[in-house]
Amino acid sequence: MYIPWVLLAILCLVCAIIGHNQAMPPPLPTALGVCSLAGMALLWRDVSSKMKGGKRSWSSLLSQYLAVKGVGWLGRRQRKTLEADTLNVKRVQEETLLQRLHKNENTSYGKQYDFSSIKDIDVFRSRHPITTYEHYRELIRRIAAGEEKLIIADKPLILAMTSGTSGASAMLLSTKDTNSEFFLQGVAVCLDAMARAFPATDSLQRTTKFFYSPTFRQSEAGIPIGPNSSTPASSRHMLNLYTTPAPAFEVPSEKDTLYLHLLFALKDPSVGTLESNFASTVFYAFSALQDRWQELVEDIERGKVSSALALEPAVRSSLEALMKPDTERAAQLRALFQDGFRGIAKRLWPHLHLVLAVDSGSNQIYGEMLRENYCQGVPFYSPFYAATEGLIGVNLWPQEPNRRYLLCPRSMFCEFLPESVLEEEAPHTLLMEEVTEGQNYELIITNASGLFRYRVGDIVKVVGFHNQCPIVEFQYRRGQMLSVRGEKVSEALFLDALKKAVTLWPGAQLVDYCCAESGIMGDSIGGSDPHYQVFVELKGVRNLSEEQRYRLDICLQQDSAVYRSFRSKGSIGSMRVQLVAQGAFKELREHMMAYSNTSPNTFKMHRVLRRKEYADFLLGKTVS
Ligand SMILES: *[C@@H]1O[C@H](CO)[C@@H](O)[C@H](O)[C@H]1NC(C)=O
Ligand SMILES: *[C@@H]1O[C@H](CO)[C@@H](O)[C@H](O)[C@H]1NC(C)=O
Ligand SMILES: *[C@@H]1O[C@H](CO)[C@@H](O)[C@H](O)[C@H]1NC(C)=O
Ligand SMILES: *[C@@H]1O[C@H](CO)[C@@H](O)[C@H](O)[C@H]1NC(C)=O
Repeated sequence: MYIPWVLLAILCLVCAIIGHNQAMPPPLPTALGVCSLAGMALLWRDVSSKMKGGKRSWSSLLSQYLAVKGVGWLGRRQRKTLEADTLNVKRVQEETLLQRLHKNENTSYGKQYDFSSIKDIDVFRSRHPITTYEHYRELIRRIAAGEEKLIIADKPLILAMTSGTSGASAMLLSTKDTNSEFFLQGVAVCLDAMARAFPATDSLQRTTKFFYSPTFRQSEAGIPIGPNSSTPASSRHMLNLYTTPAPAFEVPSEKDTLYLHLLFALKDPSVGTLESNFASTVFYAFSALQDRWQELVEDIERGKVSSALALEPAVRSSLEALMKPDTERAAQLRALFQDGFRGIAKRLWPHLHLVLAVDSGSNQIYGEMLRENYCQGVPFYSPFYAATEGLIGVNLWPQEPNRRYLLCPRSMFCEFLPESVLEEEAPHTLLMEEVTEGQNYELIITNASGLFRYRVGDIVKVVGFHNQCPIVEFQYRRGQMLSVRGEKVSEALFLDALKKAVTLWPGAQLVDYCCAESGIMGDSIGGSDPHYQVFVELKGVRNLSEEQRYRLDICLQQDSAVYRSFRSKGSIGSMRVQLVAQGAFKELREHMMAYSNTSPNTFKMHRVLRRKEYADFLLGKTVS
């Protein structure tokens, strides 16, 4: 008779999650209803119909069932709120803004800008300047040192590190609200959209979530500093949803954690979803699988964890307690791997319905590589547009190939700077209801945790409206443009040209790339006209001829009239293309994470290198 206890415990947890939002009383009557015996009989029928041949305990299935139902209910609710909000965007945005100003009106910062007297958007815009990180640097240093109520009324939970794609990494504040808001407005809504678009995900199959427990250091005042990151570390009760058991999340090394994610995923033939914040993490997981499959299969065969992993004895034994020698699965896996890695995901896990990971922006190439190779035939869903600055938009159209995000009117107060005025001194901003479809804008946000009229640095294109609310596509990072003579070649433009050039290099497959402006290279390359230094990692070719390399320059000239004109005038020199060794980008990524103190969960590859050291690192890896 221990099942009802499990049930009750889980219901309490679900209520606790829901209870986060005070406006919403815990659904106690529903809870009691579910507890009734009749309900349980029905429940069991439903549960058993959703199993896909996994061997799991009752309690684990049941708690997953309840978590899924609870989140489903929450998702439908949040979606309704969102729909209603999009019908009156101006009011919702003003409410959101004034609420935040009011909440922080008694901080030193709030007094300085006299937040308490601001009663509408226009006064706010006239009184508060547009800001960049410099505006906050000193304030955040003081918060790290222990000063309170400086910018925000709440005590910060962590100081989040951004991945620093546009220069040095920055430290931002993160509060309790950040997490619960992200869950309610982001995760719940996206899970709802996912359940509608991919009904098969409404099953009791487990998810493999490639997640790494971040390491934190502490500020002088004891506030953790680190990559900000969510689940599962923050929600251990959700662990039943995942193939990876709890002890694996305590393993500090990224490499070992990844091995364990793979090990427990391979053991379970009924995995339903692969999940990660970014497609790059999923891509690196499959390349590790390709490298280490023999070791993994042996472990499954023996029911042991490879001795190559440096695990604490207690962690190792609790992991091994969850394994039994499984020669049958091992033999099956061996046969599958020997057939090659194209489409391997669907062969390892025949009931795999979805890869859930952000694959827009700098993650686009990893998504494309996965779909062409390892994950052929599996749908992808890119759920949010988020930054360290918090939740910006949600993708309500999972099945569309273009990643489009609806801005969340209650998550942040947004302003828009038209692309043409980015360089102006005190430019006039537009509001959500004033933007034009088809135009590019830089986003300026005011959010719950102490950023006011902050230039995020992302340029987005408005591609339509949902009711009154803008839908955007990410275009590029302002700091990630190539500009040696003011020509401003964006990431999207460069990548398109590169992809065209790769098709002209027979047999070549793009693995990764980045660029540097010759200016930062200093003496490493000798004097010449300013030009682009391009580093590419390719599969399938060892060397490129000069003529083949030149193709990339031509492709970019075809796509960018401005670049072409500088090239034909001779004020920009010919692009230099260096081929780097296999695995060079994987190493670069580790190098960058260590330097900027970001974790694999939040890391984004830089497309334009701003530090000479990184460029030198790649020069050292050049093979041709
Ligand atoms: C700020 O201080 C004023 C005056 O002491 C008080 O009336 C107000 O409620 C405070 N605001 C907040 C959000 O605490
Ligand atoms: C950090 O940001 C992520 C999105 O990138 C979000 O899921 C999470 O709620 C934030 N975590 C913390 C601890 O602030
Ligand atoms: C607001 O911005 C802060 C600082 O970047 C960030 O850590 C947090 O996630 C954001 N808060 C919300 C509620 O989105
Ligand atoms: C690559 O090809 C170029 C010209 O085709 C040749 O000069 C060079 O030696 C080759 N490099 C390597 C490493 O094979």
